Amino acid sequence: MCGIIAAATDRSVGKLLVQGLHKMEYRGYDSAGIALHQEDGVAHLRTLGKVNLLEERMIQEKPKGKVGIAHTRWATHGEPSESNAHPHSSKNRVFIVHNGIIENYLALKAALSKKGYLFQSQTDSELIAHLIDSFLNDGKSMIEGMQALKTSLEGAYAIAAIDKEDSNYFYLARNKSPLLLGLGKDEYFAASDPLAIGELTNQFIFLEDGDTAAVSASGLEIFDENQKAVERNVTKIDISAETTSKGNYKHFMEKEIYEQPQAIRNTLDGRIGGEDVLENIFGEGSSKLLAEVKRIQIVAAGTSLHAGRVAANWFSAISQVPTQIDFASEYTYKNPYIDENTLLVTISQSGETADTLTSLRHAKNQSYLGSLTICNVPTSSIARESDFLLLTNAGPEIGVASTKAFTTQLVALMMLAMSIAKAKNVNPKLRTRIVTALRALPEIVEESLKLKKEIQEISPKIAEKDNALFLGRGMFYPIAKEGALKLKEISYIHAEAYPAGELKHGPLALIDENMPVVALAPESELAEKLISNLEEVKARSGTLYVFGDASSNMQIDSGKLMTMPKCDFLLTPILYTIPLQILSYEVALIRGTDIDQPRNLAKSVTVE
Ligand code: M6R
Repeated sequence: MCGIIAAATDRSVGKLLVQGLHKMEYRGYDSAGIALHQEDGVAHLRTLGKVNLLEERMIQEKPKGKVGIAHTRWATHGEPSESNAHPHSSKNRVFIVHNGIIENYLALKAALSKKGYLFQSQTDSELIAHLIDSFLNDGKSMIEGMQALKTSLEGAYAIAAIDKEDSNYFYLARNKSPLLLGLGKDEYFAASDPLAIGELTNQFIFLEDGDTAAVSASGLEIFDENQKAVERNVTKIDISAETTSKGNYKHFMEKEIYEQPQAIRNTLDGRIGGEDVLENIFGEGSSKLLAEVKRIQIVAAGTSLHAGRVAANWFSAISQVPTQIDFASEYTYKNPYIDENTLLVTISQSGETADTLTSLRHAKNQSYLGSLTICNVPTSSIARESDFLLLTNAGPEIGVASTKAFTTQLVALMMLAMSIAKAKNVNPKLRTRIVTALRALPEIVEESLKLKKEIQEISPKIAEKDNALFLGRGMFYPIAKEGALKLKEISYIHAEAYPAGELKHGPLALIDENMPVVALAPESELAEKLISNLEEVKARSGTLYVFGDASSNMQIDSGKLMTMPKCDFLLTPILYTIPLQILSYEVALIRGTDIDQPRNLAKSVTVE
C-alpha cells in the first residue's frame, strides 16, 4: 500500500528518496512521485507505473535539492493515473503526500471549492494541501497548519508536507497511520515503513496518534496532540541490506519459502526448554492470564486468518478451550457478544492491517480478559497496542504472498495452545510430545522443500488451466484454503478450497478433465473417508494431485501422488503448507506474473 518517505539532509536528496521508494515497492503501488525544495522553487515529478519510470524522469530533469518528500500510491479514491499520484499541491506552494483515508473528504472538498480552491485529482488526499494552504492564509505557521488538520480531517492519515516558502523544512502529522522518524548525523528522515530508511539509520522514533513534527537537517521538534513539545523514545532497529535483498533467488517469495526452516528455528528459539514451553513467553504476567482463559476470540485477515483456523483445532485439542474466529473486516461491525474470560487473539504479519487494528482498538473498550497478538513486526501498531505479544521472528517478509510468516504464525499459535494447557495444567504428556516434534520440525520442513522437482513436473499442467480445486479435511481444510489463496493471488488462476466431504454437496458438478484437484491426504483417522472423496473425483475424469504420506495407498491414473516426509500429526498442517507454496510459485513462474507484487494487491493493507 501507499508509502511515504521524506528527508532533510545536507546532501543531494533525490536519489536517496527514490532508493527509499524502491525499498517500499514490495508494499504494492501503482504510481510514484516526488517534490523537492530547489533554489528556484519546488521540483514536482509524478509518474504512473513503476518507480523506475520516476527515476528515468529524474535523470532527464535533474532536480536538485536537499529537502524533499516522496510517495508510492496504491489507488483507493480515483484510478491509478499521474494526476492522482502524490505529491499533491495547492497553488504550487504547499505539497503533500498522504497515506490513509479521509472519510469526510466530500464535505471538505465542497467547502474548499467554495473558497475557490481548484481540484486537479479525484483523490481524497489533495484537499489536505488546500487545507494547509488555507491555514497559512489565515496567518498560521506551517507547523500550526499541520496541527490544525486534526480539527478538520476525519479518518486515518500519515502526512508529510513541504511549503515552497520554507525551504529548509518538511513537516509531518500522524493519526492512526504509521509514520516514523529516522535520526542520522546532521540529517533526518521520515517514512511510513522502517525498511524505506533502514539503510540510512538504525535510530527510529515512532510518532504517536495526534503527533506533528517540524524537521530540518539541523534538528527536529515533535508536538503531541495538545501541541505541546515532547520528547519521544528512540528505538534502535538494525535492518541489514541482506534481509531486504533477494540474494541468489529470482523472487523474494522464493527466498522466503526456502528460508522457512531457519525462520521456524528463530520462532522457537528461547520459547521452549526441556520438555515444555517456557513461562511468560507472551510477556510478563502472560502465564497467569492464560490460566484464566475460558474462551478465545481470533481476529485476523487473509493468510493470518487461515493460521487462526488451524489453531482453533489446537486450542480445542491441547488447551481444552473453545474458539470463535472472525474476519477482521467483519468483526467490529457485528456487535460481538463477549463471554466471560475471553482472550482476544489477533494474528498479523505486518501488524498494520487496518481491519485487524480496528478490531483490536474496538476490543480495547470491550470486556475482554486481555489482548494477545502473534505478529512479525515488533514496531508495528498491533504489536505496540496489544497487552501481550509473541513475535514470530521470521525476518522481513517482502513478497506480497505470505509464506514464512504463515508457517511461523502456526508455530507461535501452537506454543500459545501449549502455554494455555500448561497454565491450566492439562495434557502434560501431550505437551512433551509436541515439544519433541517442534524441535524436529525445521529439518522435516527442509526435507519437504526437496519436493520441488516433482512439483515442477505437475506445474505446467496446472498453469494451463483457469480453475483449480483444493481439498483437505479437518485441520487441512484451512491449509487447502491457504493453498487456493496462494495460487489465485500470484498466478491469477481461480482456485477454491473445500473440506473434501463437502464435494458431493455441490462442487462435484465442476469436476471434469479441466478442473485439476489438489488434495492433502496425510495419515489420519479421516484418511479413508478422504480417499473415498477422491475416488468420486477419479470417477468423473478429474485430475488428482495428492500430497500424502507413505501410508496413502492410492492408485492415481490421471495426476500424481507426491509423498511427504512424516512428522507428528498435530504439526502436519505446517508441513503440508510447504508444497502448496512451491506449487503456486512454480505455476506463477510459468505464467510469467509479477510474483512479488501481484496486480491489485498490497503487502500491508492499511485501509479498511
Ligand atoms: O499483515 P497481515 O498478516 O495482517 O495481512 C493479512 C492479509 O492481508 C495477508 O495475509 C494476505 O492475505 C496475504 N497477501 C496472503 O498471502
